[in-house]
Amino acid sequence: MRSRSTAFLVVCASLTMSLICLTVNAQSAEVAVTPPMGWNSWNHFAEKVTDADVRAAADTIVASGMRDAGYIYVNVDDSWEGDRDAQGNIHSNSKFPDMKALGDYVHSKGLKFGIYSSPGPKTCGGYEGSYGHEQQDANTYASWGVDFLKYDLCSYMDIMKLHAPQQDPQQALVLMQEAYRKMHEALLNTHRPIVYSLCQYGVGSVWEWGPQVGGNLWRTTDDIRDYYGSMALIGFSQAGLERFAGPGHWNDPDMLEIGNGGMNADQYRTQMSLWAILAAPLLAGNDLSKMDETTKSILINKEVIAVDQDKLGIQGSRIGPLQIWVKPLSDGSKAVALFNVVTDDEAEPLTLKFKDVGFTRPVHVRDLWAHKDLGLLHASYTVTVPQGGVVMLRVWQ
Ligand code: GLA
Repeated sequence: MRSRSTAFLVVCASLTMSLICLTVNAQSAEVAVTPPMGWNSWNHFAEKVTDADVRAAADTIVASGMRDAGYIYVNVDDSWEGDRDAQGNIHSNSKFPDMKALGDYVHSKGLKFGIYSSPGPKTCGGYEGSYGHEQQDANTYASWGVDFLKYDLCSYMDIMKLHAPQQDPQQALVLMQEAYRKMHEALLNTHRPIVYSLCQYGVGSVWEWGPQVGGNLWRTTDDIRDYYGSMALIGFSQAGLERFAGPGHWNDPDMLEIGNGGMNADQYRTQMSLWAILAAPLLAGNDLSKMDETTKSILINKEVIAVDQDKLGIQGSRIGPLQIWVKPLSDGSKAVALFNVVTDDEAEPLTLKFKDVGFTRPVHVRDLWAHKDLGLLHASYTVTVPQGGVVMLRVWQ
C-alpha cells in the first residue's frame, strides 16, 4: 500500500470556463476500483435489524454463491447505535451485543464489514450520530474492523440551517462539504482502507464535488422504494451523470430491491440490468436467508455482473428517445439494454439498430438473461420485451 502521507495526487480538469483542481486522495482510489457489491440491511429489515440477521446474511452470501459472484460487503445500516460513554465513545445497542465480534464473524467468511452513521447529532432514525465525535467514531469503527461507512446527512441539515445565515444555500453547501470532508480525513487517520459512501440524496449536485471530499460513491437521489415507479424513476433519471463516474468514485442510485416482493421478476431484472449498465454499486437489500431461486438467479447473473464490474468503469448512457442504453466494455464489446417501460400494456417489440450503438458491420450478439448466443446479425435486432422488463445484450464485431 502506498504511504498515506504522500498519497495525494492532484487531478485538474477544465470544466466549462473554469479550471477546477480536485485533490483526490490516492487512498480513496485504492478502494472501490469497481462499483462496490454486497448487502445492506436497510431495504428489508430497516430498524428491526439484529446481529443475528447480519450473521445470517453473511452465511447466505457465502452459501448462495453470492460472495463468489462478487458480493463482498455486509453493511449494517441505521439502528445499531446505542449511547456514548463518559469518554464519548459510541457503543452499539442491545440488538448488537458486540460489534467487534460481528466484524470478526463477517471477516471470517471472507467478507467485508460495513457500518452507518451521520454527520449530524442524530441519524435519520433518530439514533446517535457522529457530530463532534468524528475522529473518535472513525477510530472505533477501525477497531471493530469496519471496511465501509455510509454517512447519511439526516440531522446535519439542522446544523446547516443554524449556521448558514438566512439559510444561504451556498454557505449551507460549504458546511455540508466540510462535514463530509471531516469524516473522510478522520477515516484516513485510522490508516484502514474504508470505502466512504456519501448519502445526502444528491443535494447540491454531489456528483460534481463528491471526489473532492473523499467520496467513493454518493447517492444521487432520495430513497428507493420497492415498486416499479420508484425504481424506474431513480434508475432512468441517471442519464446525464455518466461523466462523473469512474474507478474509485461512483454515482449511487440507491440499493437493490430485488427479492423484496414489491415487483415482479421482469421488473427486478430491469433493476439489475439498469444498475449494471450504470456501473452502479450493487448492494442487495433483501432477506437473503429467505431468497427464492428466481431472486438468486437475478442477483447472481454473472454475465450481467460482469457488465457492472467491467474494469473500464464507464457509466452507460441512454441513446435516443427510447429506453435503450449502452455501456462500452474493456474488451471492445458493448452491453446494450432494451427496456420496455410501459407497465400497463402488452409486451412490446423493440428494435436495436446496431449503427446506433456504433457498429456498422455485422455483429455477434449474446442475450445475457437467456444466456444464449444469437449468432452474427446484420443491421438490426427486433425483440419482444416484456412489460416493465428488459432484454440485455452483449454486442461485438
Ligand atoms: C435515509 C437513507 C436510507 C437509510 C435511512 C436510515 O433515509 O437514505 O438509505 O439509510 O436513512 O435511517
